[in-house]
Amino acid sequence: MDPADFYTGIVAEIYGPLKAVAQDPEPSASFVREAGSPALELGCGDGDPLLDLRRRGLDVEGVDASADMLDRCRRRAREQGVEVAVHHQRMEALDLPRRYRAIFLAGPTFNLLPDDTTALAALRGVRDHLAEGGTALVPLFVPSPTPADQIGKVRTATADDGAELRVSVVSEERDEAARTQTTLLRYERHHEGQSTVVDRPWVLHWYTRQGFDGLAAAAGLTAVSVQDTPGATLRQYRLRVAG
Ligand SMILES: C[S@@+](CC[C@H](N)C(=O)[O-])C[C@H]1O[C@@H](n2cnc3c(N)ncnc32)[C@H](O)[C@@H]1O
Repeated sequence: MDPADFYTGIVAEIYGPLKAVAQDPEPSASFVREAGSPALELGCGDGDPLLDLRRRGLDVEGVDASADMLDRCRRRAREQGVEVAVHHQRMEALDLPRRYRAIFLAGPTFNLLPDDTTALAALRGVRDHLAEGGTALVPLFVPSPTPADQIGKVRTATADDGAELRVSVVSEERDEAARTQTTLLRYERHHEGQSTVVDRPWVLHWYTRQGFDGLAAAAGLTAVSVQDTPGATLRQYRLRVAG
């Protein structure tokens, strides 16, 4: 399966119920206030933090590769009485009519792009969609291998219709040379005697500092700041069009 299609079908259904806590919207809100509007969230998924930012009156749109996640985002927006514009596109093939003062990912979603070629295409799209003086925020991390005692452990949640939803790690492969970790995840849905079981490879790709700087430069972007998040493994790149 194409990694951009990972969050579809049963994975999109389980994503919301399994999300332990919605992530804090404040860092994204303060980035948009600082960098300006309009703003664009890449990989907005089912709407966190996008819907919160819209409720705060910020001019922010979303992009996501998964029609199923966007359906959920639109439904949540309707339920919350929030108006939101979301676009069904891959970030490595971004083609929108607007230009943005702020383009951001709210978490390390950029690590879902499976290789440097796809990452470069996404960075070129970011450059082409930045308004003059605009800034992009790209958080990146280096994933740790799943601890051996977590393999096979099941996390459960309940769907709206009462179905039992289950996720577990089946196996994992890590390729240090390609900077890629592929975790085979098993998704299950059990309801009234009917069961669905789907195995999906979840690919994470990471970067060296030098490697990411090189990709940004090749895309015509330059890092204006690189911040490590205290107490977290995230490294936040602020990028601007190279002068
Ligand atoms: C971990 S979810 C994050 C969703 C949301 N921002 C949140 O924090 O709840 C990652 C999202 O990125 C999207 N995604 C993955 N690869 C993508 C790509 N190549 N282009 C655009 N979106 C992508 C997925 O469909 C998914 O909705």
